[in-house]
Amino acid sequence: MAARIAVLVSGSGSNMEALADACTAGTVPGEVFLVAADRKCRGLEIADDRGITTQLVEFSAFGSREDWSVALRDAVAAAEPDLVVSAGFMRILAPAFVDAFEGRLINLHPSLLPSFAGAHAVREALDFGVKVTGTTVHLVDHQVDHGPILLQEAVPVFPDDSEGTLHERIKAVEHRLLPEACRLMLERGS
Ligand code: GAR
Repeated sequence: MAARIAVLVSGSGSNMEALADACTAGTVPGEVFLVAADRKCRGLEIADDRGITTQLVEFSAFGSREDWSVALRDAVAAAEPDLVVSAGFMRILAPAFVDAFEGRLINLHPSLLPSFAGAHAVREALDFGVKVTGTTVHLVDHQVDHGPILLQEAVPVFPDDSEGTLHERIKAVEHRLLPEACRLMLERGS
């Protein structure tokens, strides 16, 4: 039976889509069963169009990060996932969520961690003037953008890059790297 994958999104959802495509193509031995989001976003619409179950657990509807994380945890746990993938998810998860999926929760981040953790990794890399940045897939622990690294790949920064052009170059790599990390996680667990 295909492994069950839940994906957390907040934005355009292109990495979720790349992962779902890789599952359909058979390069990842799993299936995206659930896409959950903290806000209305394009990623949810794409999932819906593909016939994937969606869950919107709006951050703004809860009084605290802890209460919201518990609600999101329960929504994701109900799908009984083998792997939970944070792919462009722009909220910090409280320990209640992280602990529930320990060892099977991974995050995609658009920099070579530990450089440029946080919500503005691409802009900060550009502002700093680095000539090489990249992307990281890692297991999630209790610190932000932190935990054992599964895969990383470097991406060059060009002199005329804007935040947008650099992020698109990073995303092109992520669309290959994230499915590969999921494959490694699922094959390791089977
Ligand atoms: C990706 O580049 C991902 O690495 C980044 O958001 C983008 C989502 O794109 N994640 C973060 O910045 C998390 N801190 P997508 O919605 O098109 O997949």
